[in-house]
Amino acid sequence: MKGDIGVVGLAVMGQNLILNMNDHGFKVVAHNRTAAKVDQFLEGPAKDTNIVGAYSLQEMVEKLETPRKVMLMVRAGDVVDSFIEQLIPLLDKGDIIIDGGNTNYPDTNRRVAYLREKGIHFIGTGVSGGEEGARFGPSIMPGGSPEAWEAVKPILQGISAKTDKGEPCCDWVGNDGAGHFVKMVHNGIEYGDMQLICEAYQFMQDGLGMSADDMQKVFADWNTTELDSYLVEITADILKYRDEDGAPLVDKILDTAGQKGTGKWTGINALDLGIPLTLISESVFSRCLSSMKDQRVAAEKLFGKTVQPVEGDQQEWVDALRQALLASKIISYAQGFMLMREASNQNGWDLNYGNVALMWRGGCIIRSAFLGNIRDAFENDAEIAFLGSDPYFKAILENCLGAWRKVAAKSLEVGIPMPCTTSALSFLDGYTTARLPANLLQAQRDYFGAHTYERLDRERGEFFHTNWTGTGGDTASTTYDV
Ligand code: 6PG
Repeated sequence: MKGDIGVVGLAVMGQNLILNMNDHGFKVVAHNRTAAKVDQFLEGPAKDTNIVGAYSLQEMVEKLETPRKVMLMVRAGDVVDSFIEQLIPLLDKGDIIIDGGNTNYPDTNRRVAYLREKGIHFIGTGVSGGEEGARFGPSIMPGGSPEAWEAVKPILQGISAKTDKGEPCCDWVGNDGAGHFVKMVHNGIEYGDMQLICEAYQFMQDGLGMSADDMQKVFADWNTTELDSYLVEITADILKYRDEDGAPLVDKILDTAGQKGTGKWTGINALDLGIPLTLISESVFSRCLSSMKDQRVAAEKLFGKTVQPVEGDQQEWVDALRQALLASKIISYAQGFMLMREASNQNGWDLNYGNVALMWRGGCIIRSAFLGNIRDAFENDAEIAFLGSDPYFKAILENCLGAWRKVAAKSLEVGIPMPCTTSALSFLDGYTTARLPANLLQAQRDYFGAHTYERLDRERGEFFHTNWTGTGGDTASTTYDV
């Protein structure tokens, strides 16, 4: 019997996906550039399974049922292009290559178009959930050549996470790089969620003087509320974890954050598309600031920076923090969905936002009860422009607003940096303000550069220039917007 799918790349994600496929009755042909890795896998985790090995791409391709499906679980970037080039002469028209790495979506756009010319289908899919997700059910976000979906659907939906109702956390996202785009936004949201949790942690630790044990209880408790999510759950676990000397391990970890680029891509994309993705962007910058450790240490000394203790009832503050976190999280997701809407419009992807929320409901790093509510919001109104206008989320924002302002104000007063929590509030204040000061800004632009402005008392699209100083000319600059 021939193989259902070939998987290239036997690092931990590749191995675990293969084992997952095997558990679901698919016959997998496993290949790795280094032959020894194939042997180690076959003699180790893949022993006594239906998994077969292949020591070359040619051998792998020969062992596959047609249309052949080859999934690349290799490092994103040039390595993917190199495998594609090696596979092209081995494959036939109608065969399918799947890239399951964290690829930047313009690369997937390019590869879909390139392989289409050769009659080969290409799918770029987000796979989220880390090692554990890959092994027992990740969230899978495939996009690319739509003709290929029916052939890979049973495998990808079979191995994906399922919601409580048994729905697969995997569905067709859209053409071209749509799958990798949605995975990129997922990762951006992941950055935002993590930073928001970290800001609440710092407020509790530095402002309220709480211990790791105290905070562990708080996060475990929050995990039974609307904040029920994987990231809150693991935060409680982390705070509980002791080093060999019995002290919390978290306290000994150097405070400089790493990043592999997906959050940065999300921020860049938002700037390109003109979407105010403030929270995710702040979370990326927070990682950048954290990495300037030596400068921060020196500057703390130079400015004599201290954080004043936060006075008042601790339990009240903790509850206010929970509300600030929840409300900020709504803003983050609202911004993320705004970005997806704009990208979908510009690229003609026709994204189904309810389905995206469903794909993220289980298996992935941002999985949460909250995503079930987001799905409901899009089921009620598929075109909702701002998630915060949905009745469920609007009620939460309104209920949390007082506590959220209190936390934001206090953080500024005592000197605890909470860039995501505070910028989310500023975003809501801006979004709900009918008249912003951009009238003055337009006047400034017109004053120094004759960039023109529109008037409240005239039709939109009519542009005016004023000779503000009497010494400027009457010639206006062009009115284009990027
Ligand atoms: C996932 C994760 C995964 C990975 C990120 C980490 O969805 O399973 O997002 O893709 O953990 O690449 O990103 P950083 O290294 O940038 O934090």
